[in-house]
Amino acid sequence: MKNPFEYGGVVSGNAFCNREKEVADLLRAIENNEKLFVFSERRYGKTSLVRTALGKLPKKGCVCSYVDLWPTDSEATFVTAAAKAITESTSTSVDKVLETAKRFFGSLAPSVTMDEEGKPVLTFGLSKHAKLGPALDEVLETPAKIAAKGKLNVVVVFDEFQQILEYGSDQVERKLRSVIQTHRNVGYIFLGSRKHLIQKMFMDRSRPLYRAGGHYPLGPIAEDHWQPFIRKRFADADKIISKQHIHDVCELTRGHPFYTQHLCHVLWELCEPKAETTSKMIQSAVRVLLERENYAYTTLWESLTIPQKRFLNGLAGESAGVKVFAGEFVRRYALGSASNVQRAVDGLLERDVIDRDNGSFLITDRFFRLWIQAAQVL
Ligand SMILES: Nc1ncnc2c1ncn2[C@@H]1O[C@H](COP(=O)(O)OP(=O)(O)OP(=O)(O)O)[C@@H](O)[C@H]1O
Ligand SMILES: [Mg+2]
Repeated sequence: MKNPFEYGGVVSGNAFCNREKEVADLLRAIENNEKLFVFSERRYGKTSLVRTALGKLPKKGCVCSYVDLWPTDSEATFVTAAAKAITESTSTSVDKVLETAKRFFGSLAPSVTMDEEGKPVLTFGLSKHAKLGPALDEVLETPAKIAAKGKLNVVVVFDEFQQILEYGSDQVERKLRSVIQTHRNVGYIFLGSRKHLIQKMFMDRSRPLYRAGGHYPLGPIAEDHWQPFIRKRFADADKIISKQHIHDVCELTRGHPFYTQHLCHVLWELCEPKAETTSKMIQSAVRVLLERENYAYTTLWESLTIPQKRFLNGLAGESAGVKVFAGEFVRRYALGSASNVQRAVDGLLERDVIDRDNGSFLITDRFFRLWIQAAQVL
């Protein structure tokens, strides 16, 4: 039997746990053409959530353009990614894609080529010398034109939105600001994972997108929602997991969707059919998970400075709320001075390794914390 706990990719259908309220909130936002900014830590389920919501929109009368900005690194790649997503969302069949692309974005030299499997792929060729400004305007004005012409409910989703901070200028941000303000008949949803960057982009008065849209922080999935989800998947394979053990799992992961699925995946493997999970099994599952993440954690660890490593060692070893600028902490972890701590903190905040927590700090990735504790690094 296939392991019912999926982690890593986008989850949908049966593999998607609850989030009923969030789906309803997003659908309402889309219906009202809101401009909404959805953010969370990495792997909290933003993409799965928004795709689930989009899947619930009526096929007729709705146009959803989903733009994944992850592969983009410049204004030009932004333009082609958006043009492609908008074209594909408005074409009813593969045959029509090129026709639609030519109609909307003739100046971006659309063409259809075959990929290795013989499937047609739409590509746009924005030449290095083409004028970027007009191309950007053309692409970002199109959703409103579609909405006006067809009286359609149009929504544009930009996933991995923080990627635009990697571009050379704030041209895209500025254009988006005017689009957000003028396109009353189009909904925009921005998904971003780097919380503080997003906050910077939206809370800093000097930035074009300052307070441009509503904020929707996405939280973990509540234990009440995990309980039936996890129990059923064990039961379907004739395995038993008690309420207490599901509670233990949720405590360990704090309801973090990716880690909850990952831990359950391993636990499910360890538990034989007709058997019941044990506390020992949960401990072993945590160890397996840490081993699997070992490569990623080691890479992250090696990219840190010595003071940052010392600081994290301290933070991982102490209880919540520890006073990290106090002499005792500085001495115990050989940090030298409070200003060294400040520098380490700034760098780690910048990379989302840590987050502020009631006057102190916490390591955002709980399993990274456990890994640091177990590895006894430094
Ligand atoms: N509603 C859900 N039910 C069950 N599992 C979920 C749910 N949402 C997310 N997950 C788990 O979290 C993983 C990551 O989900 P997803 O890729 O949607 O998150 P994300 O926030 O978009 O991540 P990233 O920050 O990498 O873009 C999934 O592979 C799945 O294991
Ligand atoms: Mg995502």
